[in-house]
Amino acid sequence: MQRTLVKHALASEAPVDAILVAGWVRTRRDSKTFSFLEINDGSSLASIQVVADAGIPGYEDIAKMTTGSSVQVEGRLVESPGKQKWEIQATAVKLIGGSPETYPLQKKGHSPEFLRSIAHLRPRTNLYGAVFRTRSRIAAAVHQFFLARDFVWVHTPIITASDCEGAGEMFHVTTLDPLAENKGYDKDFFGKPANLTVSGQLEGETFACALGNIYTFGPTFRAENSNTTRHAAEFWMIEPEMAFCDLHGDMDVAEAFIKHIADTMLADTSGDFDFFCKFVDKGLRERLEAVSKQPFVRCSYTEAIDIMLKSGEKFEYPPHWGMDMQSEHERFLTEKHFKCPVIVYDYPKEIKPFYMRLNEDGKTVTAMDVLVPGIGEIIGGSQREERLDILEGNIERLGMDKETYYWYNDLRRYGTVPHAGFGVGFERLIMFVTGVQNIRDVLPYPRTPRNCEF
Ligand code: 4AD
Ligand code: MG
Repeated sequence: MQRTLVKHALASEAPVDAILVAGWVRTRRDSKTFSFLEINDGSSLASIQVVADAGIPGYEDIAKMTTGSSVQVEGRLVESPGKQKWEIQATAVKLIGGSPETYPLQKKGHSPEFLRSIAHLRPRTNLYGAVFRTRSRIAAAVHQFFLARDFVWVHTPIITASDCEGAGEMFHVTTLDPLAENKGYDKDFFGKPANLTVSGQLEGETFACALGNIYTFGPTFRAENSNTTRHAAEFWMIEPEMAFCDLHGDMDVAEAFIKHIADTMLADTSGDFDFFCKFVDKGLRERLEAVSKQPFVRCSYTEAIDIMLKSGEKFEYPPHWGMDMQSEHERFLTEKHFKCPVIVYDYPKEIKPFYMRLNEDGKTVTAMDVLVPGIGEIIGGSQREERLDILEGNIERLGMDKETYYWYNDLRRYGTVPHAGFGVGFERLIMFVTGVQNIRDVLPYPRTPRNCEF
């Protein structure tokens, strides 16, 4: 007999004469003549209740079917007198793998810190099961959004020779032993410095300047030493890039994208979204509904600084024109002042990377950040500098190596076009739709400073 997923069994429209499910025991209760088993197979938040009468085949092992053990059950799907519509009246039970008392998930209510220390087992809990199913669904929604708009998914390299953001926060890729004497790059695998990508943008631009509209979706690495609830050393980023597009077009796509993701989550009927609304963040549904319906505010950096200066709000870092915005500033704007998503644009050129397009004022560049309630910055993007002379000037001004970027500059040399794009932090997106507060709890195996377990 083929295995039926618990979520399908629970959604059945009629009783079923013969059904087989398999999963892990959440709880077991025994009486003299029968036992109740709660079985979860990860297909849904909900477990299925099994009634196993004493004497059925396999019942002799019932005492070994402890919390955490894996079992297989054959039986009839019948109407349940309990909370759920269906339960299984077992005709046979089979112990597959036992689980002794050392199983760490015996009881509910462990702290997130403890659960992070057992990241290999935490997907078996309600919260993490729901988070990782949601991650998968939202990833599908990301592809759906772009493919429906004729964007081409491009697989940009994970190992690169460039530093897109110019921040130098890179993990070096080498086959040389760091403890051995320095042998020089000619002895190294690539014969030159290489690193894990901090962004697929530059390579993405080359494809946008050939295929039109493209996006990337893949792992990204940053060796920034920030131990916050919103930063990870390994995270996933989605980076669309659009040819013949300016900053306004860029903002339009970013706004439509966030709304699409909010709508996808609001339409979730699996039980996972309801779980987040009930147990993780009581304001979640209302917030996503507002994001879905309200137009995003668009506000220049200069206006944003002005608003903060006039607000009377106490900030740890007092705002001034020219500063990089901190989380407290972003959250003030989106949560307290505008109370909706905000797109801040036209930032001072000094605090932004070399590739952003210089505005007429000579002081600001066409950068834009999308700030959302509960998170702060979820998207960073810009229109790119398409004028070769200005781009080369930036590279020189910032002391970057011109030779390294010859291929990037070639896009401006041969048939240059205005183009724009942005990057979405996938984990921040998952935090945004689940209400989970720490990035470590939406990554299967979080990598942060001094932490690379598993
Ligand atoms: O603002 P960032 O640095 O922009 C770029 O990388 C551009 N190349 C994007 C582009 O224009 N194609 O990063 C984009 C987004 C941020 O808004 C944030 O959501 C996420 O990536 N992000 C991180 N997420 C988790 N951990 C980190 N350390 C992150 N750094 C950035
Ligand atoms: Mg940014």
